[in-house]
Amino acid sequence: MEQLNVGIIGAGRIGRVHAETLAFRIPEARVASITDIRREAAEAAAASFGIPAVADSAEELLASPEVEAVIICSSTDTHADLIVRAAEAGKHIFCEKPVDHSLEKIDRALEAAARAGVKLQIGFNRRFDANFARVRRAVVEGEIGTPQLVHIISRDPAPPPAEYAAASGGMFLDMTIHDFDMARFLTGDEVEEVYTAAGVMVDPEIGRAGDVDTALIVLRFRGGAIGTIDNSRKAVYGYDQRVEILGSRGSIATANCYPNEAVVSTATEIRRDLPLNFFMDRYTESFVEELRAFVRAVVDDTEPLVGGADGRVPVVMALAARKSYEENRPVRLAEVGPTR
Ligand SMILES: NC(=O)c1ccc[n+]([C@@H]2O[C@H](COP(=O)([O-])OP(=O)(O)OC[C@H]3O[C@@H](n4cnc5c(N)ncnc54)[C@H](O)[C@@H]3O)[C@@H](O)[C@H]2O)c1
Repeated sequence: MEQLNVGIIGAGRIGRVHAETLAFRIPEARVASITDIRREAAEAAAASFGIPAVADSAEELLASPEVEAVIICSSTDTHADLIVRAAEAGKHIFCEKPVDHSLEKIDRALEAAARAGVKLQIGFNRRFDANFARVRRAVVEGEIGTPQLVHIISRDPAPPPAEYAAASGGMFLDMTIHDFDMARFLTGDEVEEVYTAAGVMVDPEIGRAGDVDTALIVLRFRGGAIGTIDNSRKAVYGYDQRVEILGSRGSIATANCYPNEAVVSTATEIRRDLPLNFFMDRYTESFVEELRAFVRAVVDDTEPLVGGADGRVPVVMALAARKSYEENRPVRLAEVGPTR
């Protein structure tokens, strides 16, 4: 079988997840090279996942004629620039979310990919989760009629260190960004206006770093539906990822995923174990499916399922949500930037 040769830039948390997936779950691809500014991280990943080469830098990896596509897993502030450089080198690109915090930089990156005619897929893995894909299908096929109310619950098990919270661009750009993408994906509709009530209820250090850790965001969709995103950086019972949509003909809801289905019944209570604890466990299969889809898009020369524009709109939503919080008023997305 002909394999697509990919290079991985960034061997941190998510870089290792993607390296492992490509090594063991996707026979249509092979990791030819990996790089990280922390060389020891790249070497450790190469040893764990049988990657034959460790490049000294992203430049060296991008210059390799063997590498046909790159998986960008480095910190967010490097994404836009690496997309431009990978596009100029003629490589197909899978880039982790978010593309950037600046719409200007995102536009430059998307333009470079379009100009070079390379594939660009953004890492909104939740679209490939079986539960959320089923909700989407119920909406697309009219099973629940016209969506009227959309509820997205997305709570982490524990907050990140305060310095991460600040460097990542804050909760809306780093964490809620997935939920903004879900709002669009699940309904097939666009959000026109957001209103954010938010606060610091989990970790005062996050507040001192200028961020929030708890938020309720009201969404008004173009098609008339109303939605909420409910975020917390700390749900003591674990990763809480649920969705419900009420439509004119019924509703569809998804529950959390558990490591087992066992139910313990005693004289005083009925209980079960806690849900899968965080994204690496809860979304494992979606990480596999998104990369499989990317490889297929490159090999079959089809449009990636999550394109550059899908990477841009959630950033507009995140900036609008932050502005709404700061100014304590509903904010139309058009105030922040076009959502083309
Ligand atoms: N889709 C998801 O669910 C998901 C989950 C986690 C992280 N992410 C995204 O992935 C990105 C990385 O997050 P992480 O948690 O893996 O962070 P991390 O800090 O664990 O890893 C980032 C790695 O990139 C390396 N790096 C930084 N600049 C580099 C450069 N110029 N060239 C090569 N390597 C470089 C760092 O040394 C580090 O090892 C972020 O943008 C984050 O938002 C997405």
